[in-house]
Amino acid sequence: METPVTEARGVRVQILPDLEAISHQAVSLFIKISKTSFGERDRFVVALSGGTTPRRFYSLIGSPLYREEVDWSRVHLFWVDERCVPEEDEASNFKLVFDTLLSVVPIPRENIHPMRAGEGPDQGAGEYEKEMKKFFGESGSPVFDLVLLGVGEDGHTASLFPGSDLIQERSRLVAPVYLGEPKKDRITLTLPVLNQARHILFLVAGHSKAEVVRAILGKEGHQEGYPAGLVHPVRGQVTWLIDEEAASKMKDER
Ligand code: 6PG
Repeated sequence: METPVTEARGVRVQILPDLEAISHQAVSLFIKISKTSFGERDRFVVALSGGTTPRRFYSLIGSPLYREEVDWSRVHLFWVDERCVPEEDEASNFKLVFDTLLSVVPIPRENIHPMRAGEGPDQGAGEYEKEMKKFFGESGSPVFDLVLLGVGEDGHTASLFPGSDLIQERSRLVAPVYLGEPKKDRITLTLPVLNQARHILFLVAGHSKAEVVRAILGKEGHQEGYPAGLVHPVRGQVTWLIDEEAASKMKDER
């Protein structure tokens, strides 16, 4: 039986048993949205996240079970954020997606748009902004067909952290994030770009996320303090796929 999807304050929430169920549902949405995008625009442009939660989703969509359901020749992959480490570093978001997905699906090299962080956050952010403008055009905001996001225990999403000035960013598409040590510095898409997307999908799993999920999505939720709570696409749809553990504290409040 299909798990019910609730909608409150413009946000769709679907609670599923565990990470495996979330990952399968994310695959099914990815395939469905890809088909609509191919039909309407002849391409499917996606921005991907790092973190531990989407790993299973990436492996599943690349598995023999599902990979042939996507026309990879018309998929374009961007990243929502990246750590300033070499591409072969275990902390690299590019490496995560390469190992689990890019190495097994027939996606053309020119459709892969990694954030290059090797020369540091400032230069990397500047180059990615140029790359996005080249792809989407100079005028108007880039519109992704799908953005995949996660949320940290502190409410961060992409590399937009609570209390950061970047939350107020209105003009840059991509920004450097300095976290005190070069290996921790990052590059991130900004809220104005995320909020232009046609679909945004949050994947959230595990007990450690229960409090932040309650804080953002519960009845008494106060989204302002949490960057993930500020993700409200201006004309798109945001869906949170949450497992039972992560939903445990907000369930009674909705
Ligand atoms: C990253 C992210 C980040 C992530 C959250 C949740 O590169 O780390 O883009 O925003 O989505 O930190 O991470 P987990 O999935 O590991 O909980």
